[in-house]
Amino acid sequence: MTLQADAPQRAIDPDKLMSFVFRAVDEVGATLNTALVVMGDKLGYYRTLADGSALTPAELAERTGTGEPYAREWLSAQAAGGYVTYDPQTRRYTLPAEHAVALADPTSPAYLPGFFQLAAGTVRDAPEILTAATDGDGLGWHAHNGDVHHGCERFFRTMYNGHLLNDWLPALDGVVEKLQAGARVADVGCGHGASTILMAQAFPSSTFVGSDYHAASIAVARARAEEAGVSDRVTFEVAPATAFSGTGYDLVAMFDSLHDMGDPVGAARYVRQAIAEDGTWMVVEPMAGDRVEDNLNPVGRTYYGFSTLLCTPASLSQDVGLALGTQAGPARIRDVATTAGFSTFGTAAFTPFNNVFEIRP
Ligand SMILES: C[S@@+](CC[C@H](N)C(=O)[O-])C[C@H]1O[C@@H](n2cnc3c(N)ncnc32)[C@H](O)[C@@H]1O
Repeated sequence: MTLQADAPQRAIDPDKLMSFVFRAVDEVGATLNTALVVMGDKLGYYRTLADGSALTPAELAERTGTGEPYAREWLSAQAAGGYVTYDPQTRRYTLPAEHAVALADPTSPAYLPGFFQLAAGTVRDAPEILTAATDGDGLGWHAHNGDVHHGCERFFRTMYNGHLLNDWLPALDGVVEKLQAGARVADVGCGHGASTILMAQAFPSSTFVGSDYHAASIAVARARAEEAGVSDRVTFEVAPATAFSGTGYDLVAMFDSLHDMGDPVGAARYVRQAIAEDGTWMVVEPMAGDRVEDNLNPVGRTYYGFSTLLCTPASLSQDVGLALGTQAGPARIRDVATTAGFSTFGTAAFTPFNNVFEIRP
C-alpha cells in the first residue's frame, strides 16, 4: 500500500481542471512559438512582411527563398497566436504595423527577436541544467550555446539603446558631467560590450575598460569596438569581476551581471578598492521586488525562468556560489553593497525590465 492511497482525497473541480489544461495548451503553443519567432527572424519572414503586404504562403516562400509548406504552416501558427492576421476571403496574411516594429525593426526600443533567441538558446541547454540540479552543480555562462550569448546581446542592446544614455546615466548624480569632461569607466561582466560601446560613442573624452571572465565574449566585444570605431578609447580584457585592471574609476558599471557572479560580495569589495572616492557604482539588475509575491507577474515569471535555467546555475558554477538569483530585489543588492563597504545605496531609475541602482563609497 502506498502513502498516496492512505492520503485524504482532495476534491477536484472539473471546470478548474479543464480551464488549467486549456491554459497549458496555450502555453505549449507559446513555447513552440519561441522557436517559430527565431525562425521568422532568421529566415526573413518578419522582414518580408514588415511593409504591411498581405501575402500568401507561396508569395512569402518565394520572397524569402524558403519552402512553401514551411511558410504555410508558420503563417498559420503565427495567425493562431495573434502575431499576424489572416483574411479568409483572400487567404492572405498580414503583419500588423505595431508587430512589425517589435519583430522587424532593430532600432526600436520594442525590438524582441533577441529576447526569443535568448529564450530558445536557454531552453536548448535545459538537459544540462537537469543534470546540474540533480548533482548539485552549476553551469557557467561560457558553457551555453551561442544563441544565449548573441540573444542576450541583442535583447540587452535594445534596452541600452532605449534607456542608457537618455534615462539611466542622467539619473546618476553628476555622472554625465564627468563623462563629458573625460572619465575613467569600468564595465564589469560586459559580455559582447554593447553597453561599453554605446557609452564610448556618446562620450569620446572618456576611457572605458570592459571586462568579462568569458574569453569568447571578449573576442566578440573587441570586434564590435573595431566596427564601431571606438577602439581608441575602449579596452576589453578577459578578467573575473574580482580582478579587472585599473583603479580610480569615476564610474563602475555592471549591466545584468552581478547576480550571475558566484561571489557578488567579493566583486563588490573589489569594486570598492577600484573606484574613486567620489566615484559611482551603477548596478543594472532585472526588475524585481524584494518578496516573491512582488514578482508573481509576467516579467517576474520570465526572469524566474531565466534564473532557474541560466543565472542561478551560472553563479553556482563559480567560487562561493551565492546564487542571488535574477529576482534578488533591491534589499539583497543593498546588502551586498553595504557588506562590501559602500555607504550610499539608492534606486536611480527603473523600467518594466530593469532596476538601476546608484551606489557610492
Ligand atoms: C547576462 S550576461 C550580461 C552581459 C552584458 N553585461 C550585457 O549587458 O549584454 C552576464 C555576463 O556576466 C559575465 N560574468 C558572470 N560571472 C562573472 C564573473 N565572475 N566575472 C566577470 N564576468 C562574469 C558573463 O560572462 C556574462 O557575460
